Amino acid sequence: MGSAVNKYWIATRWQDSIVCVTYKTIFEPFRIHSVEPIRLTTKEERQRYIKEVRLNVFSLAAKDVIIDLLTDSGTGAMSRDQWAAIQHGDESYAGSPSFAIFKEAVQSLFDYKHIIPTHQGRAAEKILFGSALKTGDYVFSNTHFDTTRANIEYVGANAVDLVIAEGRDPSAIHPFKGNMDVAALRSAIEEVGPENVPLVMITITNNSGGGQPVSVANVREVSKIARSYGIPFIIDACRFAENSYFVKIREEEFKEASIEEIVKETFSYADGMTMSAKKDPMGNIGGWLALNSDKLADGARNLLILTEGFPTYGGLAGRDLEALAVGVREAISEDYLNYRITSTHYLGEALDEIGVPLVKPFGGHAIYIDARAMLPHIPPLQYPGQALAVALYEEGGIRASEIGTVMFGQQADGSEKAAAMDLLRLAIPRRTYTQSHIDYVIEVIANVHARREELRGLKITYAPPQLRHFTAEFEWIE
Ligand code: F0G
Repeated sequence: MGSAVNKYWIATRWQDSIVCVTYKTIFEPFRIHSVEPIRLTTKEERQRYIKEVRLNVFSLAAKDVIIDLLTDSGTGAMSRDQWAAIQHGDESYAGSPSFAIFKEAVQSLFDYKHIIPTHQGRAAEKILFGSALKTGDYVFSNTHFDTTRANIEYVGANAVDLVIAEGRDPSAIHPFKGNMDVAALRSAIEEVGPENVPLVMITITNNSGGGQPVSVANVREVSKIARSYGIPFIIDACRFAENSYFVKIREEEFKEASIEEIVKETFSYADGMTMSAKKDPMGNIGGWLALNSDKLADGARNLLILTEGFPTYGGLAGRDLEALAVGVREAISEDYLNYRITSTHYLGEALDEIGVPLVKPFGGHAIYIDARAMLPHIPPLQYPGQALAVALYEEGGIRASEIGTVMFGQQADGSEKAAAMDLLRLAIPRRTYTQSHIDYVIEVIANVHARREELRGLKITYAPPQLRHFTAEFEWIE
């Protein structure tokens, strides 16, 4: 127990946030077994490609991207054992043995009565909210992820974020910046009436807040409050393993615990979970909803049959269920998590040394550049995050996503206002890139940083009425 922490080079110990080292090399705890070639392109080619897609990186062909940091969702590498398990998949419409294997693996970590497979995380959200919520209800969370919020609002309910104050400040230092403000939770429930709060949620790690972890102590307190009102408490669990690793490193009570013990303890305080298995469970597709309540599970299963499929496959093939059964166990390997968090923080530390402004402390799955601070000459309504995204692509073929005014600035009445922050997210796919790839990313960003004053703002020439970041078109401002 705990041995892996100091075994090689690590650790991202709290308040010691330089990657402290025995060896500087990040040790990827796997051999590469099958390779996917990366097509190298010239800067001239990339300038042409990005112009052709009107400066929107979502519209680029993936083959024209050298290092793709758009998301860590579904983009990881599966292991040899996952590929082997795929051959074991049974595609029976009902009662597939692959479902039994999947269910047993999920329940080995998450001890809930009902395990309902779905094609991805947002499908689990949709069937949960579709059956549990009605118009005017409230769901409180630390920070609802976009799809979670959208699915709550779709049924006419209100999604309210109650993260602690530090969680809203990009430079505030706190070991568990994803924690929920428990005093605010209690008064919010009192204010709207517990009868109007069918669910309390918490997202671990808190993606929208920068991939920040939540402590077990906080989960315990939130659970106590929810249960005191008889409200089911549900964890949005996509990055449960990364969260548990942060708990081990930063929460005194758990420094000797195994990751498995931390996972079990965390989830023992909840009444269910939604999962995007495209993150920590190492799937390229998949998700699940887990619940203890027969009533909630019945309602969700009825919707599942309507929109996803029979309850023993959800929206998945039997082979997908088999791959996830293996992946969910691989996710809790301490050597893997050590590498995962250390390599993310290695990127953060290097950019910090160069002077690139970043959201701190670094989260688990991504590093966020504060583009507004890096490019103070580009006002928010000229989209500094997007300008930086385009510059990283042109410079080195790196694709990252703007999380700022392009994504959040569009108002319901058609007007536009600056988002709270203009960030660029560098999300790291699991087990996909090596330290040399990350060194390349650092070099490219250093070059862009050195000539940051030359970067120009953008204007939007086309935008759809909603979710404009996916398809908007841009031009440079002269
Ligand atoms: N919850 C969280 C915290 C997420 O980060 C995501 C997806 C979802 C739910 C939805 O899961 O994509 O399987 O339907 N996040 C991805 C991202 C898309 O890039 O951060 P999904």
